Amino acid sequence: MAELDHWHPVLLSHELRRKPRNVRLAGHEIVVFRTSSGGLGAFTDRCPHRSMRLSEGWVEGDRLVCAYHGWRWAVDGRGEIPATPAARPCARREDMFEAVERYGAIWVKRAGSQAAFPRLEGEGYVPRGLLRHRATVPFELALDNFIEIEHTPFVHFMLGYPLERMPEVEARVTLTDETIRVVHSGPRRPMPRAMEKLLGIPEDAIFVVDWTSYFSPVYTIYNHSLRDPKTNQPVTFPLRSAVFFNPVGPESSEMYTFLFASLAPWSKFGAGAVLWPAMQVAMNIELRLDMRLLDRLTDKRGILKGNVLGRFDKPLVIARDRIDRIYRGRVAEAGDGHEAARPARRLPLAAP
Ligand code: FES
Ligand SMILES: [Fe+2]
Repeated sequence: MAELDHWHPVLLSHELRRKPRNVRLAGHEIVVFRTSSGGLGAFTDRCPHRSMRLSEGWVEGDRLVCAYHGWRWAVDGRGEIPATPAARPCARREDMFEAVERYGAIWVKRAGSQAAFPRLEGEGYVPRGLLRHRATVPFELALDNFIEIEHTPFVHFMLGYPLERMPEVEARVTLTDETIRVVHSGPRRPMPRAMEKLLGIPEDAIFVVDWTSYFSPVYTIYNHSLRDPKTNQPVTFPLRSAVFFNPVGPESSEMYTFLFASLAPWSKFGAGAVLWPAMQVAMNIELRLDMRLLDRLTDKRGILKGNVLGRFDKPLVIARDRIDRIYRGRVAEAGDGHEAARPARRLPLAAP
């Protein structure tokens, strides 16, 4: 199961205290625990002895104790058997995971895999929050929603563009073997006049969303900014976020959204401290609106076959290929019936 070889955020830091926790990733159950000295451990959530869920156990010192016969497991997979002190049982290599705590989350990957830890932070930004959302769709459909701007006038109140100006929104797509980068720019959405004045936003400011999707694991980094059309410099609200798309089961996914605030003075009146919490609340509402929408999709197979795609949908097709090749480590063969095996339909990406 190649998905497990990449680093995924699986818990918010504060959710992991003394009690071991069960998490699901790509249908695989994993127990994550903290030792008394603060170390982190993670295994397949099944005792190597007789298959008890290890998350039903507890931590004693630096060992995870199984609730069934009390075998005790260290984070490196070495075990002890209270009833047979001379025995030296060992967890199987494929059941062992590495765990780290970063950006307010607990992350795991299968032990021994070579995947690098994803780079979230951008120069000039600091971590400012973490949100998690769940949807009853495969993670591919959640990603589809997050890398397509056309839904924003209908679903969101803050993100994206006004409906009547959508035809003016440009899309520039840049591909590498590993990434998909999309830069949208177009007329901004109107906001309350008082807020525009307070923040000094010019009426003709353009909204730019510059995002890049990566596939080890599957995540997208967004840079949102309102820019002066003459200088192309941000006028306020530069916001960076990184959204991770976790497969949980065949029809369930979890999105971890890491928010980053700019270190630059993003309010002329020093209002950042006040505006930032409001921005976080607004982002949370916006993402919940996406989840509500995803929950109501009628076809939850997670494939694009059979859909009539529009000019904003080409990244979705390319993402399927990257997911197969990079995330799942599959080699697509022509004619195998899989999405990635078929050539992407050619679609114009910019407004004519
Ligand atoms: S099943 Fe875990 S100790 Fe026996
Ligand atoms: Fe959305």
